[in-house]
Amino acid sequence: MNNKLDWIDKDISELKEKGLFKNIKTIESAIDAEIMIDGKKLLNFCSNNYLGFANKESLKEKAKEAIDKYGVGPAAVRTISGTLDLHIKLEEELAKFKKVDAAILFQSGLCANLATIPVLVGPEDVIFSDELNHASIIDGCRLSKAKVIVYKHLNPKDLEEKIKENLSFERKLVITDGVFSMDGDIAPLDELYKVSEKYDCMLMVDDAHGEGVLGESGRGIVDHFKLHGKVDVEVGTLSKAFGVVGGFVAGKGEVVEILRQKARPFLFSSAMTPADTQACIEAIKTLEKSDKPVKKLWNNAKYFKEKMDKLGFDTGNSKTPITPVMLGDAKLANEFSKKLFEEGVFAVAIGYPTVPMGKARIRVMLSAAHTKAHLDKALEKFAKVGKELGVIF
Ligand SMILES: Cc1ncc(COP(=O)(O)O)c(C=O)c1O
Repeated sequence: MNNKLDWIDKDISELKEKGLFKNIKTIESAIDAEIMIDGKKLLNFCSNNYLGFANKESLKEKAKEAIDKYGVGPAAVRTISGTLDLHIKLEEELAKFKKVDAAILFQSGLCANLATIPVLVGPEDVIFSDELNHASIIDGCRLSKAKVIVYKHLNPKDLEEKIKENLSFERKLVITDGVFSMDGDIAPLDELYKVSEKYDCMLMVDDAHGEGVLGESGRGIVDHFKLHGKVDVEVGTLSKAFGVVGGFVAGKGEVVEILRQKARPFLFSSAMTPADTQACIEAIKTLEKSDKPVKKLWNNAKYFKEKMDKLGFDTGNSKTPITPVMLGDAKLANEFSKKLFEEGVFAVAIGYPTVPMGKARIRVMLSAAHTKAHLDKALEKFAKVGKELGVIF
């Protein structure tokens, strides 16, 4: 019988044929350097837990304290009865940490992008967007209904050419990821700033993978380039280096104020939980006290990457702890990941649509939580599987 949902079976079969069907693993432990899956202990090389904060005692203690005092949920959106003093405190701490006027919280980094872009621009306006920007930026651009012009990856010259062809728009917005999440390369924010200023464009950077990684004590990409006060909007996430969950925008006071008045996820979706909020405050305090976790992360990344390159793997153009192991074919990437799993290493394959077709890879995520023994074991297993599958010789 013809069924109106028959197309789903067809779609799923097609995904399987192309090696793009996601077999999602269930984690049975805290997120740390070692995790449990299917009752088996594995080395974890694919979380965004850059600094090891996801299972850090001090953050857990603060989260528990917040639950005891405030309960488990805010039970409202921020503009009704969901704004706790904890939210205000975290916004103030974030603004101080980022050295900007003000900050506003959202439920996630994705939400922050969906919230912000449609407030900054509308159907009469134009956006210039890097061709490899994150899906949440792309979706935020779509929601805004502004004209979207894509410029070549990391290319301020191409950006300038494209702006020159579109000078008639009154409101213009340049948007880029800070660190590109699948390749680990860094946007030339200083150059993008110069071009944006020259043509009077607003500049927005999504620093999801720069937070806790770049700049002094992990203050992010704006600090890395010493562009304080120059970038109009910094989008951030609390769910990667900060180890918790949530998102925010940090930047000029007027930008934050208009988001408070108009950003739809702020107006129409409940606030961050007390436990998450308090844990994030502790994450910032930890970073302000010491840059040790950030240094350890970079040392681990340098060690791992140098050894992988020596083994003969193609680790792309990464300038950060994100380490893509480029394999090209999605089926090969899946097979590689499966064999690593059998060897006790959890590192998932990433394929289309997260990365372009034909550019499948294993994205290795280093963490300050990894010890040298963890790194050496992973390197040994990568070498073994790489040889078995003919990726290295
Ligand atoms: C560049 C970028 N922006 C936003 C996000 C979304 O962040 P969150 O997980 O907090 O929604 C991600 C996460 O994958 C990202 O890489």
